Amino acid sequence: MGAEALKEVCIMKIIRVKDYEELSRKAANILFAQIVLKPESVLGLATGSSPIGLYEHLVEMYNHGDLDFSNIKTANLDEYVGLSLDNDQSYKYFMNEHLFSKVNIDSKNVNIPDGTNPDAEAECSRYEKAIGALGGIDLQLLGIGNNGHIGFNEPGDFFPKETHIVDLTESTIEANKRFFEDISMVPRQAYTMGIGTIMKAGKIVMVANGEKKAPIIKEAFYGKITPQVPASILQLHPDFTLVADEAALSQI
Ligand code: GLP
Repeated sequence: MGAEALKEVCIMKIIRVKDYEELSRKAANILFAQIVLKPESVLGLATGSSPIGLYEHLVEMYNHGDLDFSNIKTANLDEYVGLSLDNDQSYKYFMNEHLFSKVNIDSKNVNIPDGTNPDAEAECSRYEKAIGALGGIDLQLLGIGNNGHIGFNEPGDFFPKETHIVDLTESTIEANKRFFEDISMVPRQAYTMGIGTIMKAGKIVMVANGEKKAPIIKEAFYGKITPQVPASILQLHPDFTLVADEAALSQI
């Protein structure tokens, strides 16, 4: 694709907000609009600390009677391999705790990779097919790892296309140890949607906050597109919105 053509395709939007509270409210409003406009939407969901406030707002909107999740379908980005279903660090647990148990979503409509399945090939192919059977993702929510990962697509030599198993990098294990009792308890592997799976979503919304994210936000969205910074591929998505606070945008 030539530079001019690319310019027309890339319409990355940045919504600059003051702080985490405003970020959570604005991003929740984007999901709110999606759900109201298309009550049978397929939502790609994310874990991590960044979207917690957004989920709180969605629950509040639901409690006020403004949102109905009964026809919503979801597909989560990723899951640790090897944690039992009741482990409070599994992403399944996280989603139940922050959203699913608090709204009227039908558990049949919830999709998360099964980290307890030891057969990686079977599980990844099952998950990719499940997303296909949903008809694809309307809106994918993302956070960003300090090393530029999205989902658990770690920096590498190529952009993985489909759902796959990954060995987590030392920097990710280090970053995520805050949620575990001890670093030795952080799983070393995860199942994650591929970059191709994510890029097929109709709309992508990323939330990023805090000074810690400032260097990677600059690199990912103002630097070159490279699998060494997986999030940089989002520069090419035709409908990508970054909602970030002043601290996360402080280096641009
Ligand atoms: C994890 C998740 C990512 C998430 C990232 C950032 O590694 N797999 O989906 O975006 O952490 O987490 P946080 O939002 O806590 O900074």
